[in-house]
Amino acid sequence: MFYRTHNCGELTKKDLGKKVVLSGWIKNIRNLGSLCFLDLRDFFGIIQLFFSKKFIIKNKQDHIELGKEFLIQVEGEVVKRKSKNKKIPTGEIEILVSKLEILNFSLSPPFLIEEKTDGDEETRMKYRYLDIRRNSIKNNLILRHNISLEIRNYLSNNGFLEIETPILINETPEGARSFVVPYRNHKGLFYSLHQSPQLFKQLLMIGGIDKYFQIVKCFRDEDARSDRQIEFTQIDCEMSFVDMNDVLNFFEKFIKHLFKKIKNIQLEPFRCIPYTKSIQCYGTNSPDLRFEMEFIELNDFFLKKGIFSFQKEKLTIGIKVPNFAHYTCDKINSILKGIKELKINEKEIFWIKFLPNKKFFSSQKELFNNENCKIILQYFKAVPGDLLFIIHGKRKETREKMSKIRLEMTKILNVKNTKIYKPIWIIDLPLLEWNEKSKKFKSFHHPFTSPVKEDLHFLDEEKKENIENIRANSYELIINGVEIGGGSIRIHNKKIQKSIFKHLGYSEKEIEYEFGFFNKALEYGAPPHGGIAFGLDRLLAILEGNENIKNFIAFPKNNSGRDLMINTPSTLKNEKLKELNLK
Ligand code: AMO
Repeated sequence: MFYRTHNCGELTKKDLGKKVVLSGWIKNIRNLGSLCFLDLRDFFGIIQLFFSKKFIIKNKQDHIELGKEFLIQVEGEVVKRKSKNKKIPTGEIEILVSKLEILNFSLSPPFLIEEKTDGDEETRMKYRYLDIRRNSIKNNLILRHNISLEIRNYLSNNGFLEIETPILINETPEGARSFVVPYRNHKGLFYSLHQSPQLFKQLLMIGGIDKYFQIVKCFRDEDARSDRQIEFTQIDCEMSFVDMNDVLNFFEKFIKHLFKKIKNIQLEPFRCIPYTKSIQCYGTNSPDLRFEMEFIELNDFFLKKGIFSFQKEKLTIGIKVPNFAHYTCDKINSILKGIKELKINEKEIFWIKFLPNKKFFSSQKELFNNENCKIILQYFKAVPGDLLFIIHGKRKETREKMSKIRLEMTKILNVKNTKIYKPIWIIDLPLLEWNEKSKKFKSFHHPFTSPVKEDLHFLDEEKKENIENIRANSYELIINGVEIGGGSIRIHNKKIQKSIFKHLGYSEKEIEYEFGFFNKALEYGAPPHGGIAFGLDRLLAILEGNENIKNFIAFPKNNSGRDLMINTPSTLKNEKLKELNLK
């Protein structure tokens, strides 16, 4: 069957007089007296059709009126359009229809298939195939295709080989829980879906592959949210004979190349700071640098000036928020109360307003009298309109609280410009962190990450107190407060690898059972190697200034991990459970 001579997006003035055949979905119908106007939509665009109502429609049953989303085929002539529509490429012409055939009927769609839709997220997910007809989702999928092509070309041109690795593997410790898969032929045994190709990409390096990459689905049993899916895609990369600078230099060029090619944006050189500095200045290892508001530590300053007496182990920090002094105290209090999970009491937080008339006001007159306020405002180089927040308390919590306040202020000030990109490498992250619940150390990244040379000796010390201070040869790429990628230089020495497993609480037997094959591989001349993985879904969302990665995934899961369209996860029939030895 001859469905179309042209698509709905390509006809223009230069095609006037042409006889054409088009197929597409009815976007809109307007009845004007004896004439009927239709907007016809396909993948490529929208075109206006018109015909007289007397016109006989083939296939049209008596009781069926044309409706939105009906699939039709029309024959007609390209004619000049009277009221032009400058918003679409076909806006200067229309099709005078001579024949119309209904190819398929459609139920009335559950939401408007328009850019400004009335469909809530749940409904759009349930009818995702209709949502994909909307330009914004369709264009995101085109963008995803284009960026994947660009990634493949760039990496391939730079000597990287795309290699697939297995998805059904054993559980490996990568920070999240794994999904488990039973197999009919092996009672009581299970596969785990890989959380990433980590071990296999390292084995490829041991196999002599110089540079590897893979655009790969990963699976993690964790709570989903706007930047996290249980099934997501990584751009996974590994290189042999590299140190941290080699990796950072290459992948900075890679990310810059993608921004230039896809968005025509020239990124500035990436900043690079150690983890400890990031925590000190922003209270987080994912700082959003589109706005200043760095933390200022006040312990020494207050001590020197005799402003505030505090216990030594406690921390006092401040931030300066511009254009905030006009908020009333009640308003400030209610803002602070409204910050999610910010449990703060009045004895821990103070503020000083520097009013536009140059007067100042402190929330705690006893501690911060006029004299002290003046000194502090000077120290912060405050200008009228600024508000200073000062918090005091236990080190870690105080920084975390201030980080939440900093982010809330940026929301209120609406300074999160989605057209500005501020990438930053965070390096030297901790190797291990103490987990109070399990009373064990846990890898900050994963157990295959190498410690920095200078800190290696801490691993062998009897005392465990320095363990948490061991820095890793690891790095994360943060753009506008979102972790876009993370990686490390790996351990390629069996002794160090075993020592890490021991620090993580594995017994000799467990090490042999779970990682024996890998430790063995390290004994066959494993080369020094390192790599990184980027979250493709997150990268796309950032490129488009969008906070929700679901908009870039054709069929995403909702925040409780369900696909509402196919209604998964779902129960299994008894026979199936028996077949899998689960009943
Ligand atoms: P990591 O666990 O840091 O490292 O993951 C790398 C990047 O993948 C993205 N990401 C996610 N995106 C969406 N949903 C999720 N649930 C999710 N989890 C992670 C993030 C993150 O920076 N094997 C190592 C990499 C390596 O060491 O080379 C790894 O997987 O953008």
